[in-house]
Amino acid sequence: MKYFAGIDVGSLSTDVVIIDEGPRVVGYSIVTTGAKSTTAADKALAAALDRAGISRDQITAMIATGYGRVSVPLADKAVTEITCHGLGAHHLFPGTGTVIDVGGQDSKVIKVGPKGKVLDFNMNDKCAAGTGRFLEVMADKLEVGLDQMGPLSLTAKREIEISSVCTVFAESEVVSLVAQDEPVADIIRGLHRAIVNRIWNMVQLVGVNPEVTMTGGVAKNSGVVALLEDKIKAKINISDEPQIVGALGAALLARNSR
Ligand SMILES: Nc1ncnc2c1ncn2[C@@H]1O[C@H](COP(=O)(O)OP(=O)(O)OP(=O)(O)O)[C@@H](O)[C@H]1O
Ligand SMILES: [Mg+2]
Repeated sequence: MKYFAGIDVGSLSTDVVIIDEGPRVVGYSIVTTGAKSTTAADKALAAALDRAGISRDQITAMIATGYGRVSVPLADKAVTEITCHGLGAHHLFPGTGTVIDVGGQDSKVIKVGPKGKVLDFNMNDKCAAGTGRFLEVMADKLEVGLDQMGPLSLTAKREIEISSVCTVFAESEVVSLVAQDEPVADIIRGLHRAIVNRIWNMVQLVGVNPEVTMTGGVAKNSGVVALLEDKIKAKINISDEPQIVGALGAALLARNSR
């Protein structure tokens, strides 16, 4: 049996997916990128190999993606995230027409064709608002775990508008809302609305081409997903592990290369 690996070195997480010829996922891992992306890449690969129960020399081909893709000397080739998220999303949900990837540092809207080929895209990598980093900063400020943001926001009772579009100003707005004793759930809901408005502006530039599939860590936030579904007026496809979709696309490309 031949095995192929995809490795996505993102700003927050480094993700590895190993597939066989099937293609079937035989192992994957998600580790924090931290300060040194080469170390994270080694760690993530070792963890995924361990789960797959195979050794590094059993990997026939490996492709790297993500902003840190150039710092993966073990990979045979580096490919952009746009291509990889398109392919990964299409593989999981063959009806995908639009991919929304919201990661830690950037967000992208990708229009894909029948085979997962990229037709058009739009990307925001200039500003933290509209990315997962915005939510990380706010979770930290509110002393709420990232995984609690979604469930908490769904219990919100009242609409609070966060008027600042900039992360730094929105953070001071949060500080004053906390000082006014506003319920945390309502504040989080307001923050989710702010990030979703940003993402929605990007989606409109590319257009909604159903079905819509969301990838990246922010797809794990049920509050953001619910508000985005309201805007799109349709259900969004989300896989069990949306953070590894880019790495899956890279692994599929590695398989096609042999
Ligand atoms: N368990 C969780 N629940 C809710 N949100 C989460 C969870 N884990 C991560 N996130 C969100 O996902 C974001 C990171 O996503 P991801 O790992 O896809 O980013 P990345 O690929 O490293 O970044 P980029 O693609 O921008 O370089 C975090 O900023 C956070 O907002
Ligand atoms: Mg990413």
